[in-house]
Amino acid sequence: MKKMLLIGLTAALTATAGIASAQVKPFEAIEYRQGVFKAVKWHFGPLGDMVKGKTEFNAEEFSRRANLLAALSQMPGEAFLPGTYDKKTAALPKIETERAKFDAGMQDFQQATAELATAAQSGDLNSIRPAFMAAAKTCKACHDNFRD
Ligand code: HEC
Repeated sequence: MKKMLLIGLTAALTATAGIASAQVKPFEAIEYRQGVFKAVKWHFGPLGDMVKGKTEFNAEEFSRRANLLAALSQMPGEAFLPGTYDKKTAALPKIETERAKFDAGMQDFQQATAELATAAQSGDLNSIRPAFMAAAKTCKACHDNFRD
């Protein structure tokens, strides 16, 4: 009985996931990834201000935002889908033809922001600063290649 229920549940979940990816509209994928990057900027900006001394360094706030940034870095990749490069987007179509390079850039971003979140736990700006610069480099590297 329990086993049957489990099988039923798994089937239902699989079906839902299938439908979700099959029915996603291009504009929804574009809005989603742009929204995620807006949130990335929302947190990355204040981090940069603290690193550069434009605002006072607050270890707790820095750590909170760095953790959110690391979580956000996991989110945009799945929305770069075929058919989502022609309208109202700054994403270049070569993301599809240079997929491995794009994915590597996304992984660099994820790793660098995870390392920034770890460095933030020290509360020491001297070890945070290089981790922040490394993360900023991953933004630029990808934008230079894949953003209009
Ligand atoms: C692996 C590639 C990649 C990485 C890494 C990356 N971006 Fe982007 N970003 C893009 C692409 C592609 C777009 C254009 C998305 C679109 O218009 O569909 C974009 C768009 C944006 C936007 C504009 C969002 C909007 O439409 O208003 C901002 C802001 C942004 N990125 C900030 C950042 C910051 C800050 C980082 C690093 C902390 C970063 N990105 C890292 C690829 C990347």
